[in-house]
Amino acid sequence: MIKKIILVILFPILSMLLTFQQSHASNNDTPRVRTNIDFDWKFYLGDNPQAKQANFQDKDWRTLNLPHDWSIEGQYDQDNPAGIAGGFLPTGTGWYRKHIAWDESWSNNLVKLEFDGVYMNSEVWVNGNYLGKRPYGYISFTYDITEYLEKGDNVISVRVDNSKAPSGRWYTGSGIYRHVWLTKVSKQHIPYHGVFVRSSNILKQKADIAITTEITNKDSKSQSLKLLSELVDATGKVVGTTKHELELTANKTTSIEQSMTLKKPKLWDVDNPYLYTLRTSILNDDNVVDVLDTKTGFRSIEFTADKGFLLNGKPTILQGVSMHHDAGPVGAAVPDDVLRKRLKTLKDMGVNAIRTTHNPFAPEFYQMADEMGFMLMNEAFDGWWDAKADFDYGLYFDKWWQKDLTDFMRRDRNHPSVIMWSVGNEVPNYTPEQQKTLVEFAKKIDDTRPITQGHGYEGGYLTIAGFNGYGEFKGSIEKFHEENPNVPTIGTEMTHTIHTRGIYRSKTAYRVRDFPAPWETRNNQDPMKKWQRIKDKVYDIPDLTQEEVFPGINGAYGSSFDNSVVRMPIRDEIKLAKDLPYLLGTFRWTAFDYLGESFGWPARTANFGVLDLAGFAKGPYYLYQSQWTTKPMVHLDPHWTHPGKEGVEIPVVVYTNQESAELFLNGKSLGEKQINDDMQLVWLVPYQAGELKVVAKNEGKNIISKTIYTAQEPHSIDISVDKFMVLANQTDVVHLELDVIDIHGNIVPEANNLINIVVSGPANLIGVENGDILDLEPHKIPRRKAFMGKALALLQTTAEAGVITVTVTSEGLMPKQYVIESLATSNEWSENE
Ligand code: GAL
Repeated sequence: MIKKIILVILFPILSMLLTFQQSHASNNDTPRVRTNIDFDWKFYLGDNPQAKQANFQDKDWRTLNLPHDWSIEGQYDQDNPAGIAGGFLPTGTGWYRKHIAWDESWSNNLVKLEFDGVYMNSEVWVNGNYLGKRPYGYISFTYDITEYLEKGDNVISVRVDNSKAPSGRWYTGSGIYRHVWLTKVSKQHIPYHGVFVRSSNILKQKADIAITTEITNKDSKSQSLKLLSELVDATGKVVGTTKHELELTANKTTSIEQSMTLKKPKLWDVDNPYLYTLRTSILNDDNVVDVLDTKTGFRSIEFTADKGFLLNGKPTILQGVSMHHDAGPVGAAVPDDVLRKRLKTLKDMGVNAIRTTHNPFAPEFYQMADEMGFMLMNEAFDGWWDAKADFDYGLYFDKWWQKDLTDFMRRDRNHPSVIMWSVGNEVPNYTPEQQKTLVEFAKKIDDTRPITQGHGYEGGYLTIAGFNGYGEFKGSIEKFHEENPNVPTIGTEMTHTIHTRGIYRSKTAYRVRDFPAPWETRNNQDPMKKWQRIKDKVYDIPDLTQEEVFPGINGAYGSSFDNSVVRMPIRDEIKLAKDLPYLLGTFRWTAFDYLGESFGWPARTANFGVLDLAGFAKGPYYLYQSQWTTKPMVHLDPHWTHPGKEGVEIPVVVYTNQESAELFLNGKSLGEKQINDDMQLVWLVPYQAGELKVVAKNEGKNIISKTIYTAQEPHSIDISVDKFMVLANQTDVVHLELDVIDIHGNIVPEANNLINIVVSGPANLIGVENGDILDLEPHKIPRRKAFMGKALALLQTTAEAGVITVTVTSEGLMPKQYVIESLATSNEWSENE
């Protein structure tokens, strides 16, 4: 009985989980079957040219699941050739092999092998037959492997060469770090990314839909085919149909144009990201020979120099962030659950736009952006012909850019989330002619979206002028506008700020003046000379106190007030975006800390994020939230545990989206302040241990409050999880947030206790992290020091169902345990039914 009740409660949740799971796997009732083949690969770190042979013995190789990144499994080492750029992690060469048994359904059909991304220089063989090489580590690509498949065992061998380092200006990861698929199709089928759907003339009553469909006939005979395109709404109702008949000669690919009118279109936007599915069917003598579902959505986008950006006719400021592709302790091999959680954190911050710096992201990122309502600046490249890192894609650009740009844009062109393309970032030594070449090439693939470039305002061929650091100098965007009044502008990389979670300084710091980056001191350049040149152009940020209240903090860390910047604070960036109609919005550098590009050993990153490597929010996250969201919120910084500072005036900074806030220390009011253009409220509070409370108000009413307490000694570890139930699918991930707390449950703000994590039951610990840029412990071991009171552990399920028990211990603290249920996936579930 109890089991039954549990089943009734669990069933709706489970069916949701299973639907997601199935959409990830294959769809057996259509002639097209797409199967994920991430599991059970063999891996060898090193080079072995024999491994391409079909009969090579790989029994002793390590068995693992994809996505996989061997760099993040390694040790941080100052001598690793990736150096500062690559976060001091190892690179190298590796081999992967996957055995696949012959499937009878492959007879008379075609089989395609699809890689979502391999970093980098991948070369692929099937049963010893060479398929090709793809240098660009961020591109998705496919091979037709039909002719090489044999009855019996089939072996895919992949050589990955990231041995020449640094191959990027940031942490790249190494390996098959994204999903891999096998797709079976009939001889008459839609080729890879062969559907392009777009809308125009969007009105309340109707929208015009245009569809281009490529069809291939790989048969030796000509075929009479029918193409049926059906538009299906989110409830499953067919809301538009169009048909076309064609004769397709042997071994030909053709392209068919169709159109339809969609009545009363439901538009996609960031708050209500409504999606349609375009179902494309190919029929041969009334037999369905291919069916492909393309998720899409319809919205109008206008980029103007007088009214700014209009989404479905509504003025909308791009509240954007730049992101790199890695995710803390999992490196570049980011499980879907980790990515989804990160995006959810950004949604809660009020982010509505993301720039995929500086390369194509994983396909699932775009699906999630469609579903969650993010607008994307989808960026193809960092540099062009001139390499920016010693061994980066610049070495291959001339030969590959057209192929890669085509594959990239074809892959992503149906996503409503993609609102613009970027063809580069701070491209060195480019000529206007080169910019024109790339822009014109891109426009031929997709002329429905504008094209920009990070720091590309000078070329003259962009639809939107992009500003990076230069845009952070006072008056620079205004000056450009005066000279180019009809060109809309965008902050492609604004603002840069540098924060460490839990660290505060009361005096302002600018990068070049206070913690110069290596490139600011290169060739014996004196950063102070540069500072003298630029100091009148950077934004003034008053110190919070005359004397530093928090002296003696390691210089590698940045303050988590809005006073630790490269050139401009966050508040002025937000103000600019609100005030300048020709500025469509900005993309801050960055959302999350990313590995690499630090200020030098022993730092593994430079703390540019408003979220740390573990995904934990720093103070400025809440500053954005106060400006970009309407759900009542209030936040106060710093923490309130400062023994020894009794009587010292500590700046308390409050962010809220309400009209005013009142601060109380140990029950006594310290006054109420109105939110104004400064976007933050500051009280100088003589320190006294106890309770600090802020109450945010609107029209005189208390709306929301937050209280923090002075913490006592560490007592135990608090575990909080993002899921209490997962599926035994080798995919689901649980985030365990580990907080060092005192006897009353308060986080101990500066605690750095070493936490041991013991997992028993069907799950693997796939990463530990604490956000400390100076902590060089590896990520795949069962322990982590807390940093500023917190650490993160990630668990991934195995294929077995059962109870997962996590026990955390720390010397001198009370141990804690947490139990998570891992449920059987679809097959076993229906048996249990
Ligand atoms: C920019 C660059 C980014 C990142 C940033 C760090 O110039 O475009 O990729 O390197 O600097 O400040």
